[in-house]
Amino acid sequence: MTATPTAPTPPFHFTTPEFRRDPYPFYAQLRREMPIVRLNQGRRGESYYVSRYDDVMALIKDVERFASDKRTAGHKVSWIESRLSMGVTESMVMKDGVDHRRLRTLAHKAFTPMRVAALEQRIAQLADGLLAAADARGTMDMIADLALPLPVAVISDMMGVDERYRRHFHHWMKGILELDGAGWLELLTNFPNMIKINRFLRQLIAERRKNKGEDLLSALVEAEEAGDKLSFDELVASTLIILLAGHETTVNLIGNGVLALLEHPDQLERLRAHPELLDGAVEEMLRYTSPVQLNAPRFACEDTELCGVPIRKGEAVCPILASANHDETHFEDPERFDVGRQPNRHVAFGFGPHFCLGAPLARLEAKLAFRAILQRYTDLQLAVPRSQLTWRRSQSVRGLNSLPLRVRR
Ligand code: HEM
Repeated sequence: MTATPTAPTPPFHFTTPEFRRDPYPFYAQLRREMPIVRLNQGRRGESYYVSRYDDVMALIKDVERFASDKRTAGHKVSWIESRLSMGVTESMVMKDGVDHRRLRTLAHKAFTPMRVAALEQRIAQLADGLLAAADARGTMDMIADLALPLPVAVISDMMGVDERYRRHFHHWMKGILELDGAGWLELLTNFPNMIKINRFLRQLIAERRKNKGEDLLSALVEAEEAGDKLSFDELVASTLIILLAGHETTVNLIGNGVLALLEHPDQLERLRAHPELLDGAVEEMLRYTSPVQLNAPRFACEDTELCGVPIRKGEAVCPILASANHDETHFEDPERFDVGRQPNRHVAFGFGPHFCLGAPLARLEAKLAFRAILQRYTDLQLAVPRSQLTWRRSQSVRGLNSLPLRVRR
């Protein structure tokens, strides 16, 4: 009798400081030696992880076999789980089929390439204004001065979030996002943040009900009031997911992208000499630095197999997008950062029905941020040794806590 193949446990953990500093050698080892692994994620239970490009794509594309909504795969979402996830279980990211399309369609209008292109002037002004304020102070932390406030301002404008909330909501949401590898105790200590976000979202919606405008939140509130398009819980979840995804990802694209350029001065000079490469350079930053490292898990809808390993109905499998983006069978010399790379079919925005709704916006924000930086500064240098840079605690997103720079105009 032959034994049933099982997925090994990786010989390292995804939360160690070494892993956070540079996960790519670890991913390469997975792709080479153990393309599917099984890991116990504490309060989240056991999940499989796949690391090769073809397996990641097979998993995300096969929506019949693998669902985004665990309920499609036979699980229940308990009241406590729904509360602890801040209701994200009711958002489009965690829905399938008709419900997913309904929720996505309601927000989609605001993110079409045409609607996003109309924001160009405003985003360019914001970027210039933020850099000018940093210059006036004489010091520069690329994260705090540009990479974070730019997407916070843009998504707040789109959702009509008042100035008085803007400084706070990022802070509360950051706490939640960085809990994705945490245990119960940490989760409980973050409870006050959850309460603040909840109160903030409900207040925002209540204010908008009384005073509607042209923004996306007003459109969502109208859809909820129409009665049959959006429930109240879905309205709260949509508001949260759009505000969260709208800034917690782009901040890392800009921050990681600046660091990649500083670490590859030949590519920085090439981009200065050939600004027409900027669109392609942003794609390479997406591939090379993968701001979202792990996609949301998929749940097996039936007993099946992946990479030769049996997966039982209901089990969770996470696609490691960052590893797929460095797969040597799809990208020539994948550890080379090449602002002119062609072709570049990365999966940094996912793939299939859940492909990132905000991709046109993220691309435009990053392009205008880099244009402003390159036009404004003739010289950019790290202001601290590379070894002093620290990475955020999150497992799903990868980004710097701060990026102190010395700049010359
Ligand atoms: C560099 C920036 C960004 C990256 C790398 C990124 C990445 C991703 C990825 C990988 C997914 C797929 C999730 C899945 O398949 O389960 C996704 C979905 C999504 N993203 Fe982004 N994102 C970025 C920026 C944005 C922005 C600016 C917004 C604006 C609101 C946004 C909104 C969304 C939404 C709403 C979804 C869910 C789509 C769905 O489930 O149909 N993202 N994003």
